[in-house]
Amino acid sequence: MSQATQQETVREDGVIQSVSGPVVTARDLDARMNDVVYVGNEGLMGEVIEIEGDLTTIQVYEETSGVGPSEPVENTGEPLTVDLGPGLLDSIYDGVQRPLDVLEEKMNSPYLDRGVDAPGIEMDKKWEFVPTVEEGDTVEAGDVLGTVPETVTIEHKVLVPPTSEGGDVASIEAGEFTVEEAIVELDTGEEITMHQEWPVREARPSETKMTPREPLVSGQRILDGLFPIAKGGTAAIPGPFGSGKTVTQHQLAKYADADIIVYVGCGERGNEMTEVIEDFPELEDPTTGNPLMARTSLIANTSNMPVAARESCIYTGITIAEYYRDMGYDVALMADSTSRWAEAMREISSRLEEMPGEEGYPAYLSARLSEFYERAGYFENINGTEGSVSAIGAVSPPGGDFSEPVTQNTLRIVKTFWALDADLAERRHFPAINWSESYSLYRNQLDPWFVENVRDDWPEERQWAVDILDEEDELQEIVQLVGKDALPEDQQLTLEVARYLREAYLQQNAFHPTDTYCPPEKTYLILTAIHTLNDEAKKALDAGVPVEEIIAIEAAPRLNRIGVQEDYVEYIEDLKAEITEQLRELY
Ligand SMILES: Nc1ncnc2c1ncn2[C@@H]1O[C@H](COP(=O)(O)OP(=O)(O)OP(=O)(O)O)[C@@H](O)[C@H]1O
Ligand SMILES: [Mg+2]
Repeated sequence: MSQATQQETVREDGVIQSVSGPVVTARDLDARMNDVVYVGNEGLMGEVIEIEGDLTTIQVYEETSGVGPSEPVENTGEPLTVDLGPGLLDSIYDGVQRPLDVLEEKMNSPYLDRGVDAPGIEMDKKWEFVPTVEEGDTVEAGDVLGTVPETVTIEHKVLVPPTSEGGDVASIEAGEFTVEEAIVELDTGEEITMHQEWPVREARPSETKMTPREPLVSGQRILDGLFPIAKGGTAAIPGPFGSGKTVTQHQLAKYADADIIVYVGCGERGNEMTEVIEDFPELEDPTTGNPLMARTSLIANTSNMPVAARESCIYTGITIAEYYRDMGYDVALMADSTSRWAEAMREISSRLEEMPGEEGYPAYLSARLSEFYERAGYFENINGTEGSVSAIGAVSPPGGDFSEPVTQNTLRIVKTFWALDADLAERRHFPAINWSESYSLYRNQLDPWFVENVRDDWPEERQWAVDILDEEDELQEIVQLVGKDALPEDQQLTLEVARYLREAYLQQNAFHPTDTYCPPEKTYLILTAIHTLNDEAKKALDAGVPVEEIIAIEAAPRLNRIGVQEDYVEYIEDLKAEITEQLRELY
């Protein structure tokens, strides 16, 4: 850069005009929208969000108290980016991807101080690079150049940056490299390192978005069995206070059959995030036995961190997710809670004195929500591999009222809806997912997978259960009016079968070592056991056995113990045989 332009850059910097919480207005700053700037004497990190004449509005990612007019504002001329490369996994970040442990070390206190910058990945760590292309090979944007063992579980694929023109490989070598050292040189003179940067607010390019055909198996019976989400699908978990949003998200983070998990703790209570930060590093990946963190990147923004960093955490998360998708991995992103994210938008919008929309949320709330969920999907990547990003957002409607704007706007976008219910939670029916309100628009397109990979009659068994639960709903209304005994015997029996569906199938204890994860086969077999009870009981009823006697058979309550059985195949076979025998003895 020449002297003249350097001086120009200096003159392009501005000064603070006013400060309103996380929003700072600067004068005489030559900037573009979304440029990253350093604000005030301490150099707090911020992002340009509005430009009007010679006034520039900046959202600042750090506490601004004490910062005042006439302090300098320096423009980097760069958008807010995420550092991508090996080292993202097994890391914990704040909303603008500053590693929490590095920050703590630098500041020597668990409370983040201001003006501290830290790269998102370690710059001086050496990684073992193994090339998968040779000198002379032609490579294009997105192509895999080689691999790095990032963690015990995940092999990191080193990609030609999506912005590269590509070319022929002029030199490539195996060996130990930092993310900043060139590992490949192209005949065009371009040097490629393992470190990529990507603007957080922009989706990484892909070839095509495909129709998802595979479920993201969660090991949660009600999800896999009744309301499955696809790999590359979108889901919302709305629920009132204490109904199980976080537990459900944690279950997914632990057990979903994704290769990579990105967990965004967005502005939930401080202690809740502390739990995540303390719990996750201790958890084991049930499929590999390796630490769960070996496939996980955590973004932790508690509600006591600045509001603007909360606004950006979702974008940081989804950009990391897309990066692993580009390697051909299935990535699942959980955001807990998107309401806190929307509230951050609302707060910033009101500081900008924008015209408020519904309940004070900005008019662009729904656009922002759909931009986020749009970045999920099952993709053909630009390098020809397939990868997916599934996005699952918790929603915390105030007072549990689903008619509020964040829930309603989310509902219009996502294809899976797991509605948590205060009544169920109060009755300790967990997971407290309301089976009449919830839905999955992926159900039919995923059936072929379940038919092929679990059992032929997966859809029929499910439909049978859904019908019984619907019938129970209707019968309950009558029972409310006239009592159970007034019902005909076959309907009393249906109520009994429905009760087992709720207790043995829909309920699942996240805190029981065995019940916490239920493979799809077990999910299916539990249904067949209850179905056996239903069919055999009907026969007994037809043979004239009184319903009280049928209900009273000794074996039936053992249905509620299937969840906790490890040797469930044998247990279920025995149980079916016993139920059948005991019922047939009655006539
Ligand atoms: N699947 C489950 N199995 C057993 N217990 C559960 C389950 N889901 C929820 N719970 C119980 O409900 C409690 C509250 O759940 P959780 O913290 O997930 O609620 P939340 O909706 O995230 O609440 P908040 O609105 O406060 O964030 C848990 O501590 C646990 O006791
Ligand atoms: Mg919670």
